[in-house]
Amino acid sequence: MSNSSSFNEFLLLPFADTQELQLLHFSLFLGIYLAALLGNGLIITAVACDHRLHTPMYYFLLNLSLLDLGAISTTVPKSMANSLRDTRTISYSGCAAQVFLISFLFTGEFSVLTVMAYDRFVAISKPLHYGTIMGSRACAKMAAAAWASGFLNALLHTGNTFSLPLCKGNVVEQFFCDVPQILKLSCSDSYLRVVWAVVITLCLAFGCFVFIVLSYVQIFTAVLRIPSEQGRHKAFSMCLPHLTVVSLFLSTGIFPPSLSSPALDLVVAVLYSVVPPAVNPLIYSMRNKELKDALRKVISWTFFSSGNIAFALHK
Ligand SMILES: *[C@@H]1O[C@H](CO)[C@@H](O)[C@H](O)[C@H]1NC(C)=O
Repeated sequence: MSNSSSFNEFLLLPFADTQELQLLHFSLFLGIYLAALLGNGLIITAVACDHRLHTPMYYFLLNLSLLDLGAISTTVPKSMANSLRDTRTISYSGCAAQVFLISFLFTGEFSVLTVMAYDRFVAISKPLHYGTIMGSRACAKMAAAAWASGFLNALLHTGNTFSLPLCKGNVVEQFFCDVPQILKLSCSDSYLRVVWAVVITLCLAFGCFVFIVLSYVQIFTAVLRIPSEQGRHKAFSMCLPHLTVVSLFLSTGIFPPSLSSPALDLVVAVLYSVVPPAVNPLIYSMRNKELKDALRKVISWTFFSSGNIAFALHK
């Protein structure tokens, strides 16, 4: 019987076996990855550069974009590289790094979304106290708590998962190293040893979920009490992007980790690990005039300065 120490690499699920399909997978992932880089990069630049966006909501959005960038960079480039090189291996340490980063970034993301729900709740239900409740110290503490919860959760899961003896080979039925898929490889009796860690995470996630739901119940009752139609519309549009992002995150992440067929597992994994980081920036900037103005400035500034450089080089 072999155990985990005898592997120095894992095999990931390939997307395709023929060269054409591999190329198709590579270009598709490249497109999505570039879109995610561009979208999140623009949001980060806009929030960092435009002083009108120096408010808690946009700082949290900056946090979210950083986490999104990290999350998509953990899985997609490796999968693209494997497709291009017609291989399916990932080193043991690479696999551990993926497990760690994925747990860290996604837990962090859900925690930041929870903090953002609280931010929207204060902005809409207690507008007069917004400045005192969401001071910069308080916001920094909340953001730090969100990142720390992700970090601790990642330590827990990585330590746990990789301490288990693996009896069932090194073939991971997913395009990246995902905790449930690696647990499937463990010897059946040791499975119970890590259940408590999964339970802790589920409780944490459920707590966040309840918190978000309660915040939105309060937000909606406050919105409905606003007398003017225009005021209601404005208040609602203040929290619509956040609500959309939360719904997307939950609806893609809610599927059980291993359904019956590997093909379905693959689609579900793409849904929860690739789609949200790529479309979150779109959702946030779609109907947000402040952000759009800032983005327009960033883009025109980029073109203007690169135009200047080109001009200078030309001379
Ligand atoms: C995250 O948000 C907090 C709270 O607004 C802010 O102080 C901090 O600078 C942000 N961190 C990053 C890395 O964006």
